Amino acid sequence: MATILSNYSLSILTITILLSSTIYQAIGQVDNLPVKEKLSHFRVYWHDILDGTTPTSVQVVKPLPNMTNGFGQVNMIDNLLILGPELSSKVVGKAQGFYASTSQQELSLLMAMNFIFTEGEYNGSTITILGKNAILNEVREMPVVGGSGLFRFARGYVEARTQMFDAKSGDATVEYNVYVMHI
Ligand SMILES: *[C@@H]1O[C@H](CO)[C@@H](O)[C@H](O)[C@H]1NC(C)=O
Ligand SMILES: *[C@@H]1O[C@H](CO)[C@@H](O)[C@H](O)[C@H]1NC(C)=O
Repeated sequence: MATILSNYSLSILTITILLSSTIYQAIGQVDNLPVKEKLSHFRVYWHDILDGTTPTSVQVVKPLPNMTNGFGQVNMIDNLLILGPELSSKVVGKAQGFYASTSQQELSLLMAMNFIFTEGEYNGSTITILGKNAILNEVREMPVVGGSGLFRFARGYVEARTQMFDAKSGDATVEYNVYVMHI
């Protein structure tokens, strides 16, 4: 039994060494590619629509009882990304994900969302935004933690500025300036 086991461990070890040398070679090849990173900057408007017959932002978890700042609330979003602050301007993608109220001391959200572009050369490419959004601040910076398509290897940040907030419906329009490094 002990022999079988040690033979088994030996072959696992061999496989592991073979695999890691293959991976090492693959990494070596990628390192040799003449990859040049680009910095892109663009601006989109994010429309959070909670009212009406076709809301794009839906509360899926209610705030916890007896907590301030809506602590515990979660909204799932499939928001439009538009070139201008008006809903009539050109739609260039969607913001899909969720935001959650994560602070008991201030009005602050955890944003976790993909920007999925649907126009021109960006069609099908995505970036992923994950960060803290202290929504009462005039400018909120959040990290871009990854991307796909034209935005492979993306990293960067966004600056979010509220353009419109309707206290009655909760609807908001937020300008997102995106700064992203990618290949
Ligand atoms: C929470 O709030 C409700 C209604 O406002 C109240 O009846 C209840 O006692 C509170 N619970 C705690 C643990 O404070
Ligand atoms: C974007 O890509 C999808 C899927 O490939 C395609 O159906 C759609 O027509 C494209 N849109 C534009 C504006 O190119």
